[in-house]
Amino acid sequence: MRSYLFYDMLPHQILVAGEFRDAALNRTFDVVDPGSLETVATIPDATAEDAIAAMEACAAAAAPLALVSTRARADFLDALYRAVMDRQEAFAQLITVECGKPITESRAEVAYGADYIRWFAGEALRQPGLARPAPSGHTQIVVSKPVGPAYLITPWNFPLAMATRKFAPAIAAGCPVVIKPAQLTPLTTLAFARLATDLGSQFGLPAGFLNVLTGTSSSALSAPILSDSRLRKLSFTGSTEVGRTLLAQAAPSVLRTSMELGGNAPFLVFEDADVDAAVAGAMAAKMRNAGQTCAAANRFLVHRSVAEEFTEGLRAAFAALVVGHGLDESVTVGPLINDDARASSEQLVDAAVSDGADLAFEGSVPSALRGHFTAPVVLANVPHTSPIVGTEIFGPVAPIVVFDSEDEAIKIANGTPFGLVAYAFTRDLERSRRLTSGLEVGMIGLNRGMVSDATAPFGGLKASGLGKEGGDMGLAEYLATTYVAF
Ligand code: SIN
Repeated sequence: MRSYLFYDMLPHQILVAGEFRDAALNRTFDVVDPGSLETVATIPDATAEDAIAAMEACAAAAAPLALVSTRARADFLDALYRAVMDRQEAFAQLITVECGKPITESRAEVAYGADYIRWFAGEALRQPGLARPAPSGHTQIVVSKPVGPAYLITPWNFPLAMATRKFAPAIAAGCPVVIKPAQLTPLTTLAFARLATDLGSQFGLPAGFLNVLTGTSSSALSAPILSDSRLRKLSFTGSTEVGRTLLAQAAPSVLRTSMELGGNAPFLVFEDADVDAAVAGAMAAKMRNAGQTCAAANRFLVHRSVAEEFTEGLRAAFAALVVGHGLDESVTVGPLINDDARASSEQLVDAAVSDGADLAFEGSVPSALRGHFTAPVVLANVPHTSPIVGTEIFGPVAPIVVFDSEDEAIKIANGTPFGLVAYAFTRDLERSRRLTSGLEVGMIGLNRGMVSDATAPFGGLKASGLGKEGGDMGLAEYLATTYVAF
């Protein structure tokens, strides 16, 4: 087995009330590197008993954390930002071995994830509030306060950034948390939790401000937490299907929820686009984490007049990709997260080809590789009725659908229940304005293949979710307001 930089910072235990400990029933499970199929670590498989203890610790921390000054919360987050960045390489290795993404992308994820901490360190000092004379003569005061204990369920595809995007605003607002990282990639959260816990006590945060549960049964862990009347907030990133189940579980106690759910991002290339820029944008929008992101371009809608040029450009860019284990510096495409993901991506390609799509490019997977690898594929002339167009692919596959008019492109783009993000390449300002109002999405990359930014509001419309994470709106997700007529 290789020697990794992260060994010293990785606790192999869950975190409850400031203590790392084994699961109550002493069960464990293995975390496996999807690029080598080697076991990276064996960690606790927590059960309902642990969830109850974590919720108890979280509830007990709510009142003392609310009393910690916003300056102290900001200083804690500033110190945590620096501590994460000081360990950027170790975190990057850990992300790569549990999630599979190439090491250069993992380094970028550490910087992106740390940026949420840095941003919310500033936001902690800018809590909203208001005092003004009411028209009838009295005074109106509006105060913000922490919404209360929060349960944060994070996905496997950004093991650090999705945890910090929820944890940092929660702490800035004064809310203690229980984090349930994904079963497939829980290690980065444990390493992060150790750093945060060590620093938290130095800045006067109460034990229990952060609790982490690892386990193989999300429902067994979530049920006791979601039914605890002291819980005030649920934040989830994952599929729309699981989001709906969680929303139903959150309904009896009318919990505040933030839901960052599935996407099916259209990537539109108009006849007036800079096609080279569109190809570069397409690679950025498609290939992060081998296509396994909610914001990944899923359908390439290209005007007939530039379809050949765009397809050729994308084919050439795909031909330059290097498939392999993410720790190899030359690799640009890692494995998929598991064998189901590989099979699902390959089945969508097969179905599209049977529906009449052309295989414009098919890469290869070196035979020496062990792991859940699949070959990158570009599909041209895909009928827009093919399942690959309506399904979130989560793989390194780019299906190209041709359109003839702007109205048709917008209709195809909006013809899905999802509305997370769209990308559009055009040099026409008036068209850009029409797209901004016409596309039913929460985010648009206009002549850009990337929207993710800790200082901007990330989140979707329609079945892609509720609420915004990051930016000026991120803190409000963890605040309650009380209006006083004075
Ligand atoms: C996601 O895939 O859920 C998040 C992607 C991002 O923040 O860029």
